Amino acid sequence: MNPPSRLLILVGTMTNTAEYVAQAIEMDCADLIPEIEVRMMDGLDIRVFDGDALYLICTSTYGSGDVPDNARALYESLGNEPKFLGHVRYGVIALGDHGTHPQTFCQGGRRFDERLADLGAVRVGDVFCHDASAGTEAEVVGAAWCREWLALAMQPAS
Ligand SMILES: Cc1cc2nc3c(=O)[nH]c(=O)nc-3n(C[C@H](O)[C@H](O)[C@H](O)COP(=O)(O)O)c2cc1C
Repeated sequence: MNPPSRLLILVGTMTNTAEYVAQAIEMDCADLIPEIEVRMMDGLDIRVFDGDALYLICTSTYGSGDVPDNARALYESLGNEPKFLGHVRYGVIALGDHGTHPQTFCQGGRRFDERLADLGAVRVGDVFCHDASAGTEAEVVGAAWCREWLALAMQPAS
């Protein structure tokens, strides 16, 4: 399998932290893959996975372990319009707050991971969870994690 030439980052957010993480990745990881596109999840459905990109879900968590409002249509489409996504390789950056929501920590990202795996998509690496209570900046640690993740994803055999 050839290494991917395009990374598509799908952003689910309420207060923009996930978008800042995606933008940091766009800047910091440009040397690792020919093209990086950041797309907000608003208005997307399962067809966004029809392409041949490498996908990165970058989403926060709201309510009680729910996906953010702008991610709901895409998340529900994965359940309501299911199709086999065996060609899809993806990673997950899940934002949450363990201090205030220990029971549902990072469940927004984990929900996407479960649905994608159910449809046959293949996750590269582990889900990366950022804890807003940890005192680290999501953009900094998210972009650092993504460099390692991309190195893994770009290996032809992985
Ligand atoms: C009303 C509200 C509900 C939240 N619910 C959860 C939750 O259930 N689980 C969790 O891990 N984090 C929860 N969070 C924390 C956010 O996911 C976290 O602050 C995240 O960094 C926000 O990212 P965003 O700015 O991209 O939306 C909640 C935050 C708010 C304000």
